[in-house]
Amino acid sequence: MSVIVVSGTGTEIGKTVVTSAIAAAAAAAGRSVAVLKPAQTGLEPGVPGDAADAARLAGPSVTAVELARYPEPLAPDTAARRAGLPTLSPAEIAEAADKLAASHDLVLVEGAGGLLVRFDEAGHTLADAARLLDAPVLVVAPAALGTLNSTTLTAEALRARQLAALGVVIGSWPADPDLACRCNLADLPSSSGLPLLGAVPEGSGALAPEEFRAAAPAWLDPSLGGTWSARSFLAAWPAG
Ligand SMILES: Nc1ncnc2c1ncn2[C@@H]1O[C@H](COP(=O)(O)OP(=O)(O)OP(=O)(O)O)[C@@H](O)[C@H]1O
Ligand SMILES: [Mg+2]
Repeated sequence: MSVIVVSGTGTEIGKTVVTSAIAAAAAAAGRSVAVLKPAQTGLEPGVPGDAADAARLAGPSVTAVELARYPEPLAPDTAARRAGLPTLSPAEIAEAADKLAASHDLVLVEGAGGLLVRFDEAGHTLADAARLLDAPVLVVAPAALGTLNSTTLTAEALRARQLAALGVVIGSWPADPDLACRCNLADLPSSSGLPLLGAVPEGSGALAPEEFRAAAPAWLDPSLGGTWSARSFLAAWPAG
C-alpha cells in the first residue's frame, strides 16, 4: 500500500493530525514518506499549510507537497472561483501522487474537508482522485455525538463508488470522554461497517515534534504502522 487517501467526515476533524501520525510512524520505521495536500484553502501564500504542518510534526525526512492554495476558507472549487485561480482536476491530483509514489515508500494524500467536497466546477471530488489512483481511503472521524451518522454516510459514499475503505481513525479523542464518545467506540464499526484503526488524543497536534513522533505509533493500529489495539482501547474506555 503505497498511497493512502486521508479523508473524513468534514473539516477540522483531525485529518492533518492523523496524517502526521501515520507519517511519523512510517518515518520512524525507516520508510520514506510524502504528504500531498492537493488543495489548501484558508491560507495566504507563505504561511505553512497542512502538508508542511504534517512534515513539521512527523520529521524532517518527510516530503511535503501542496498543489494549489486558495486564500478563502471555503470548498476548493468555490475558493478557486472567487480568487480567479485555476481548479485542480482528479487527474492532476493522481499524477502528483503517482509521481511522489515513484520516489517514496508511502504517500499520504490529505483531502480538503469531507469526502464529497468539490475540487472543480464539474463536481469532481477527492473520491475521483482515489479512483484514478486505485488507492484506499482512510476515514477520519470525530469522537462525539453525531459521528455515527457522518461516518456511516462517508462509508456508504465510498461503497457506492466502489472505493476501498481502510477504516476509521478518531481525529481527537478527549481526555475525559463523555458517554457518547465511549459508546461510539463500539458503535462506529457496527454502524459504518469499517474497523476502528486508531485514536489520536486531543491536544496531540500541539505537542513538540519529538514528543509527537515518540507517541504516534501508540495511536495507530498495526495496519497503519502502529501498536494501538481497538480491543484494549475499548477495554480502557467502557461505556459503563
Ligand atoms: N488530536 C488533536 N490534537 C490537537 N489538536 C487537534 C487534534 N485534532 C484536531 N486538532 C486541532 O483541530 C484543528 C483541526 O484539526 P486538523 O487541522 O487536523 O483538521 P482537518 O480535518 O485536517 O481540517 P481541514 O479540513 O482544514 O484540513 C486544528 O487546529 C488542530 O490543531
Ligand atoms: Mg487538514
